[in-house]
Amino acid sequence: MDTLSWARLGARVAGLDFASAAIEAARRLSEDSGVPGRFVEANVYDAPAALERERFDIVYTGIGALNWLPDIVAWARVVSDCLVDGGRLYLYEAHPMRGALDYDNPDQQLLLRFPYFSQPEPGTDMSTETYVDGPTFEPMPVHDWNHGLGEIVTAVIEAGMDLEFLREHREVPWQALPWMEFVGDGPRGADGRYQSGRMWRLPEAQRDLVPLMYSLMATRRRR
Ligand SMILES: C[S@@+](CC[C@H](N)C(=O)[O-])C[C@H]1O[C@@H](n2cnc3c(N)ncnc32)[C@H](O)[C@@H]1O
Repeated sequence: MDTLSWARLGARVAGLDFASAAIEAARRLSEDSGVPGRFVEANVYDAPAALERERFDIVYTGIGALNWLPDIVAWARVVSDCLVDGGRLYLYEAHPMRGALDYDNPDQQLLLRFPYFSQPEPGTDMSTETYVDGPTFEPMPVHDWNHGLGEIVTAVIEAGMDLEFLREHREVPWQALPWMEFVGDGPRGADGRYQSGRMWRLPEAQRDLVPLMYSLMATRRRR
């Protein structure tokens, strides 16, 4: 859906994911909606080869992408490889401070429970659901990795990109902590369409204590 949203705005798009079900669903959506897109099934670390070394004006990723990746330095090199000179990385992602918070503290207090910095081993949790709507299943382990903001920004710069901005946000596009308040469906543009999706935020007393999301733009330096 993210990929096809870019296509609806006029971009010629390629969407990459290693989940065959996600790729099949994306192809079906593209066909049903008549919005053209190319969908490639591959591990993101193999993206340059899977995309036949094509280079792009924009690489967009986020909303729960980096937390599945063990190696942020290798990820930044892949992004850099996929960009034309002057091309841009746009990243909108969960803030690592959010990843460090205890997400089921019954006292509704902000407590640091998980490592903020990259760890060689993933954090592992037992889960009965995925992050999308759907049926619950037998508990199974879910592994993910938090990466510090400085680690991400430095990886981007060292991979050959110049930072244009780094913004930290109080709103998050899912209910990341059970006591978060629903903000609303986001602003609508002149055409009546939503410009951003549904958003949640912390209650007022906690709102300025911690960032929940960040957005980053960086430009590929000349080779
Ligand atoms: C929470 S979704 C968010 C992505 C995007 N914002 C979206 O709405 O489709 C995370 C996606 O990352 C994919 N993923 C995780 N690790 C990956 C990897 N190593 N290579 C390619 N895709 C990966 C998952 O299959 C999943 O579809």
